[in-house]
Amino acid sequence: MSERKRVAILISGRGSNMKALVEASQDPAYPAEIALVLSNRPSATGLAYAEGAGISTCVIDHKSHASRESFDAAIDAKLRPSRIELVALAGFMRIMTAGFVEAWRDRMINIHPSLLPSYKGLYTHERALADGVKIHGCTSHFVRHDVDAGPIIAQAAVPVLEGDTPDTLSARVLAAEHQLYPHALRLVASGQAHVRDERVIISAQSMAAAPLINPPLR
Ligand code: GRF
Repeated sequence: MSERKRVAILISGRGSNMKALVEASQDPAYPAEIALVLSNRPSATGLAYAEGAGISTCVIDHKSHASRESFDAAIDAKLRPSRIELVALAGFMRIMTAGFVEAWRDRMINIHPSLLPSYKGLYTHERALADGVKIHGCTSHFVRHDVDAGPIIAQAAVPVLEGDTPDTLSARVLAAEHQLYPHALRLVASGQAHVRDERVIISAQSMAAAPLINPPLR
């Protein structure tokens, strides 16, 4: 079997996407192993799950750093000796410096709860509902210094249903995130997804499934 890529997951909170990645990596055929879970918040509930799964965890509290540069340097100083090859942001609520983003260029991915480039930033579900869109979803992308930008690896679409609230819509999108993010990490870790001219090329791509039409045709 080829070498599995060593991945660090960066979290700030509940870590349900981290859990999805950890579960995927428990298959020995998965091309990535989760070598580290790092949180900027000591209280992140996801830490307990990672510890229970036997994964090394680490807290680097941004509040104990005077600048973003020093915080990012501390993260980098943890990742390198841990021989991390890929970084997966999973609900990590800090904006990284340009220097850190460049150092991990094309080796750091994120999951965002909208169909980018629509609805960058926060409150994506509220804004999608306010706009009356019929299809919403999530995106996994390589990280760039501009927030929620960067070459798109994969996207999942979900219907917006009559009577949806931000909570019901967010639950539907989150379930899609849990499928999409392990898929995106697999594509990157296996070398099937790579960046060319700021777009992601997927090698050996098969036909996508039927279009999601909402409301349905019948
Ligand atoms: C997810 O919706 C993710 O897309 C966004 O932050 C949320 C994190 O949730 N970036 P969790 O911590 O993975 O449960």
